[in-house]
Amino acid sequence: MSEWTECLNFGVSLCKQTGDVILSAFQQPKEVTLKSSPADLVTETDQRVEKLLISAIRSRFPQHRFIGEESVAAGERLQLTDSPTWIIDPIDGTVNFVHRFPFVAISIGFTVNKQLEFGIVYSCVDDKLFTAQRGRGAFLNGAPLHASGQEDVSRCVVVTEIGAERDDLALSTLTSNICRLLQLPVHGVRALGTAAVDMCQVAAGSADAYYHIGMHCWDIAAATIIVQEAGGVVMDTDGSVFDMMSRRVIAASSAAVARRIAEIIRAFPCRRDDEETAGSGV
Ligand code: IPD
Repeated sequence: MSEWTECLNFGVSLCKQTGDVILSAFQQPKEVTLKSSPADLVTETDQRVEKLLISAIRSRFPQHRFIGEESVAAGERLQLTDSPTWIIDPIDGTVNFVHRFPFVAISIGFTVNKQLEFGIVYSCVDDKLFTAQRGRGAFLNGAPLHASGQEDVSRCVVVTEIGAERDDLALSTLTSNICRLLQLPVHGVRALGTAAVDMCQVAAGSADAYYHIGMHCWDIAAATIIVQEAGGVVMDTDGSVFDMMSRRVIAASSAAVARRIAEIIRAFPCRRDDEETAGSGV
């Protein structure tokens, strides 16, 4: 058993328990608060699930550190150190959750020395548990996952998200990226409303590529290692080495597809997740 398998198993059991909290609130009316933009939402359930996860993990592993979406939104400093760190999105797909669009996930990535050791994405409405541990493969409900291996971008289904950005530059960049891909043409462009579940489609081979500009580290930390362990490739949208804090990602079935998408799409400027802005939230 690897040193971190106990943490992975503990994370999985917590996801199952807190998934029930999300499911029991799913059909209920929600009180919604805005964060960084009119499309960046938080509910009492996001905050509750994050608190439940962090307090349970902290009592079992008191030395470990946390980066949690709602803790950062509340002003906590976002700093990835060499310590064992749980990177948590309590509900990835909060807009979906508010609207009862049935794709929401708990996303937990775990790093040591800033390297991802495991990832858990629990898509609770359809009870799909995606997991991966470094060097040990990726799994969906225990069955091995494999990326499609597709190398020809014109035969790809590409997943992306518009995200919560609503300024003119971001919107024109994001929409023209989609147009350029459709003109290649690719077989299709899709969006499920949760970066974590989107990215797991690449791991599962049901999509061939995913790219996103403007998401945060908690949206993609877990799914990054799930894609890599399924044989996929993860890089920056400019084709350089993936940086979890840069807020840019391409995940693909092959390096050829990832590089071709990097040639086609453009990014708009985003403040890095780890930029010193203590107290300003997301
Ligand atoms: C959001 C989702 C969405 C993506 C946004 C993310 P949240 O996460 O992953 O798909 O487009 O950029 O912020 O806020 O629901 O945890």
